Amino acid sequence: MIQLRRVSKSYTAFAHASVVLRDVTLDIPTGQFVAIMGPSGSGKSTLLNLIGCLDTPDSGTYELFGQHVDQMSEDQLSMIRLRRIGFVFQSFNLIPRYTALHNVELPMIYARVDPAARTRRAQRALELVGLSQKLAHKPSQLSGGQQQRIAIARALVNDPAIIVADEPTGSLDSTTGHEIMHLFRRMHAAGKTIVMVTHEADIAAYAQRILYVKDGRVSEGVLR
Ligand SMILES: Nc1ncnc2c1ncn2[C@@H]1O[C@H](COP(=O)(O)OP(=O)(O)OP(=O)(O)O)[C@@H](O)[C@H]1O
Ligand SMILES: [Mg+2]
Repeated sequence: MIQLRRVSKSYTAFAHASVVLRDVTLDIPTGQFVAIMGPSGSGKSTLLNLIGCLDTPDSGTYELFGQHVDQMSEDQLSMIRLRRIGFVFQSFNLIPRYTALHNVELPMIYARVDPAARTRRAQRALELVGLSQKLAHKPSQLSGGQQQRIAIARALVNDPAIIVADEPTGSLDSTTGHEIMHLFRRMHAAGKTIVMVTHEADIAAYAQRILYVKDGRVSEGVLR
């Protein structure tokens, strides 16, 4: 499903180019739950952003669902992100002035789902993450774990095939982090492909496969 072939990525800052990923070749089959680990600044988010079509490689090829992402236009990329990929971030990235329900409805507004179906699906998604009592709350009125549940509900509403998560437990205490991983486990059991960056070994342990990013390379960790 996810096929990277000799993918490289560099950044230029202050007229100095640095290679973050070099010749990365990687396959992630449908339905796999993968954790990405590695030192700070090693390129984990860079790799995840490529996989999530938030960025494109400098060289090499990326095939997703059999389509060449590296040759897609900005419009095609945003369509893929909207319809096929759900995003979860460390800082939740919710819109503060919107209620939980409205935050979850947003991706469906972009996808032009009709209003009645939209509200019904958002309510259902919030129920699934245990937040049916908080539909009218704004993010600031909720705990970190509850905010991340909203973000997960939002990531799921367009029924994406892939969930991409950058340190989803990074701003949560350990107990709440494990609760969020139980939700990830459920998404995995429901057939989602999950690619998750984490610094924490006990969080990575929820995945089936661990990839380590270091010195521009990606290597395999434990496969269970
Ligand atoms: N937009 C950018 N412009 C310039 N350099 C960047 C950009 N994004 C990332 N980098 C650099 O690329 C390298 C890899 O960054 P990346 O964010 O992928 O690391 P990371 O492994 O996710 O780190 P962390 O664990 O701290 O989140 C770093 O040296 C970073 O400074
Ligand atoms: Mg990062």
